[in-house]
Amino acid sequence: MTDQNVSILLIDDDESLNRVISYQLQDMGYHVETATDGKQGLEKFKKGTFDIVLTDLQLPGIHGMDLLSDIRREDKYVIVIIITAYGTVENAVEASRMGADDYLTKPFGKETLRFTIEKALRLRNLQTENVQLRGELYQKYDFRNLVGKSSAFEDVLKLTGRVAESDATVLIQGESGTGKELIARAIHYNSPRKNKPLITANCPSIPDNLIESELFGHVKGAFTGALKDRSGKFELADGGTIFLDEIGDLREDLQAKLLRVLQEKEIERVGDSRQIKVDVRVVAATNKLLFQLVQNGQFREDLYYRLNVVNITIPPLRDRKEDIPFLVDHFLHKYSKDERFAITDEALRVLHEYDWRGNVRELENAIERASVIATSPVITPDLLPPMIRDFSPNNTSHSTENRSLDQIERQAIENALDKTAGNQTKAARLLNIPRHVLIYRMKKYGIT
Ligand SMILES: Nc1ncnc2c1ncn2[C@@H]1O[C@H](COP(=O)(O)OP(=O)(O)OP(=O)(O)O)[C@@H](O)[C@H]1O
Ligand SMILES: [Mg+2]
Repeated sequence: MTDQNVSILLIDDDESLNRVISYQLQDMGYHVETATDGKQGLEKFKKGTFDIVLTDLQLPGIHGMDLLSDIRREDKYVIVIIITAYGTVENAVEASRMGADDYLTKPFGKETLRFTIEKALRLRNLQTENVQLRGELYQKYDFRNLVGKSSAFEDVLKLTGRVAESDATVLIQGESGTGKELIARAIHYNSPRKNKPLITANCPSIPDNLIESELFGHVKGAFTGALKDRSGKFELADGGTIFLDEIGDLREDLQAKLLRVLQEKEIERVGDSRQIKVDVRVVAATNKLLFQLVQNGQFREDLYYRLNVVNITIPPLRDRKEDIPFLVDHFLHKYSKDERFAITDEALRVLHEYDWRGNVRELENAIERASVIATSPVITPDLLPPMIRDFSPNNTSHSTENRSLDQIERQAIENALDKTAGNQTKAARLLNIPRHVLIYRMKKYGIT
């Protein structure tokens, strides 16, 4: 694991100390997030993925010991190092009795800090030599967080598990908020490349004039402002995985460059004609129907086929409503405060009725919002956003208004397959289309 991949959560109510320590840790190459009280610390911990927690024991809000046990309940393998005043903890045995892996006595210098972190990481690496443990550890990055029991989602999970082991290029498709990024992470962290970096490039969020250099790097003087050589994301991902998000928005000249990278496994920095070998696995995602972009001439066909070696299509949430109760449970756990939240049957029914254009992200936001405004640990319908609460299935989702032709066509195909228990010949007859057209459309919509 490279230092950049180690993520540390620092919890201390002394803000100036927080600043100093986090600056030192960043300087050592670690990724750091900070919190100034126990409650905020726990919330950040639940939302993020941390390798190490550095925490003071004297905190406002939650007592340090309670915080420690809450953190352990969330993740039994995370490294916890407590920061204590002189005389509180005398030795490592005492620290471990408190549930921590190690301790630091205030005040401490940068070298003590570095040594303690490195020792803890070495210890953890030793532990992870144990294969089974390593399996469990990596689950934290992925399958534990991938919730859903519908057969459609289980198919996605199975395929994800299988491709993870390979080195194949993967194209993940699905509407916004269906979990594409989550699947991409699962692929990386379950692949043989998991100890190497996972680098994300969100194509549309990078300014147009910088994207080429972001991806492929540049040499000094390549353009105004290029003051020194810089490696791009492909080089940073060497040995690991690059996640190209929103690939449908990639500019045409860069599509050509990307195609070359996939073919030759070499990149060229901007302003340099030397070829640099890179060993990078590509996982791409898009919420557009990429094949349609190909047909409209907006996306290179050859690149499409290079990317689409394995296709994972995540169905929209409204087509797998059986997943809703499991997801709700997962998010209730994630956003519960001191007491575990419950949800009433009536509220669950409301969630079931809704059409979820924003997919899992919209559901997650609804649960988070409800748990923030709740005055008791029970989620009732009135805590749900008005748009969801007042939704009436009769005026939108089942009517054909507001639905694209593709969605209607997809639904018709799925209905026909349902009615014929998956028999393609019969389904084609029902739809009054030739069987090969049915098969083509099924492929297009990722219906299996
Ligand atoms: N199956 C799932 N189990 C648990 N959480 C999920 C699941 N699917 C999605 N989420 C959560 O929903 C949110 C949106 O997921 P993610 O960012 O992966 O979606 P996306 O498809 O990349 O969306 P976009 O196209 O808008 O970028 C995240 O917070 C993610 O953790
Ligand atoms: Mg995304």
